[in-house]
Amino acid sequence: MSGWFITGTGTDVGKTFVARALLADLRAAGEAAVGMKPVASGCYEAAQGLRSADAEALLAASSVAADYADVNPYAFAPAVAPHLAAAAVGVAIDIENIAAHFARLQRLASRVVVEGAGGWLTPLDARRSMADIALRLKLPVILVVGLRLGCLNHALLTARAIRADGAPLAGWVANRLDPAMALVEENLATLAARIEAPLLGVFPHQSPRSAPPAGALDLRRLTEII
Ligand SMILES: Nc1ncnc2c1ncn2[C@@H]1O[C@H](COP(=O)(O)OP(=O)(O)O)[C@@H](O)[C@H]1O
Ligand SMILES: [Mg+2]
Repeated sequence: MSGWFITGTGTDVGKTFVARALLADLRAAGEAAVGMKPVASGCYEAAQGLRSADAEALLAASSVAADYADVNPYAFAPAVAPHLAAAAVGVAIDIENIAAHFARLQRLASRVVVEGAGGWLTPLDARRSMADIALRLKLPVILVVGLRLGCLNHALLTARAIRADGAPLAGWVANRLDPAMALVEENLATLAARIEAPLLGVFPHQSPRSAPPAGALDLRRLTEII
């Protein structure tokens, strides 16, 4: 009974894309899997309340049905950093509350795929960050590297921070965000030589709105890790 925490080299690097792929691969393997987006900003107002497009995409890719409130306990309208969005509406993000919703999802599915907001150190309040959610949920971390110029520094800083925080790094995923990026193989080799965790998959650049590719992740390796 476990899952993974998906972080990335930043925002808009493919965390949701990879999380959807992981959920779809788990579903294809016959596993009960559900997504979670504990904290989301940039949400839209729906009839039932604020909704995160990420949380909805994760729910749609899940193989079990879950309550929206468990999948996305903190939804904020402004498309700003979570701690600023929370402060604007006077909400304190409570990690114990997130853990309680996570526990409910764990009763529904043996695999819970949790997507962070932003990157590893995206603040939740004056003191804590996304890292504290991953640590509290005791999940191995998957680092999504959005391949573009500048990603080596972001990826290596993030891998170092994950290690320094004492979270297990299950592996990293290369996502070909920029189809025109030069020397992709050389960049991958550079990261592989410096990140002390396996490369779990390389995602090709895809046309907008197409579903993430099936089987791009090394599911066997991932499920060995947890
Ligand atoms: N491999 C890819 N090829 C093409 N577009 C991609 C790819 N990965 C992500 N995108 C697009 O980039 C944007 C950001 O991806 P997303 O998964 O939402 O990032 P994050 O969850 O890290 O913010 C989305 O519009 C998504 O469809
Ligand atoms: Mg996302």
